[in-house]
Amino acid sequence: MRMPSLADTSLLLERLSLKFDFKSSRYWEWNYKMGRTSGPGSYGRQCVAKAKILNSIIDSLRIESIVEFGCGDGNQLTHYDIPRYLGFDVSETAVRMCMEQFSDDETKGFLHYTPSVFDNRTKLISGDAAMSVDVIFHLVEDPVYRKYMDDLFSCARRLVIISSSNHTDQGGKGVQHVRHRKFVDDVAAWYPDWTLIAEHPVESIDGKDIDSFYVFRRSAPDS
Ligand SMILES: C[S@@+](CC[C@H](N)C(=O)[O-])C[C@H]1O[C@@H](n2cnc3c(N)ncnc32)[C@H](O)[C@@H]1O
Repeated sequence: MRMPSLADTSLLLERLSLKFDFKSSRYWEWNYKMGRTSGPGSYGRQCVAKAKILNSIIDSLRIESIVEFGCGDGNQLTHYDIPRYLGFDVSETAVRMCMEQFSDDETKGFLHYTPSVFDNRTKLISGDAAMSVDVIFHLVEDPVYRKYMDDLFSCARRLVIISSSNHTDQGGKGVQHVRHRKFVDDVAAWYPDWTLIAEHPVESIDGKDIDSFYVFRRSAPDS
């Protein structure tokens, strides 16, 4: 029998500590360090269904560049047709995976997102659209969620595209790393210059939750 390595032991201890003191950013770094992926929603039929919706939004709204908050392991990204792309993720391991996977692709760049030292008030980090795909329901802590939304909207010149659930039904027992939110109401309250212009439901596969892509447009000129 193989003796557990120091790395195995420290990952096990990290998982134990997360049980008692959960932090979404630490959870995701642990997830990728364990060799796990961005999850089933970013693979197979769900991945293809989401890419089909996003690619048609990109095409119909003539989107030239996207800044994504929560790029994940990059599998979903391989199915998108985006002219220029910048991906942030709170997990450094995920960012490194993307950097390696897309090292030959001059149209894509990646940065590690550390919320406590991210200040984009000059709006110099920006794309035609800012995007969040399957991240909001993983932001279980309220301050983390609010900072994430502020940073996401700060990076959008024209559009914000969000794929998420939009309800507060947490299901039976729930899981530690999922918290559903009625985020559309929060967008209306926090960002009054932005209007919801479209909702594209993602086809339900294997009876899983139905999420949608929500598209918000800036209704007042950028200041
Ligand atoms: C379910 S995965 C989705 C990844 C990717 N958007 C996709 O569609 O494949 C959620 C991702 O959100 C990232 N994440 C979690 N909290 C975050 C935060 N506060 N800011 C940015 N990314 C975050 C995780 O590291 C993870 O990569």
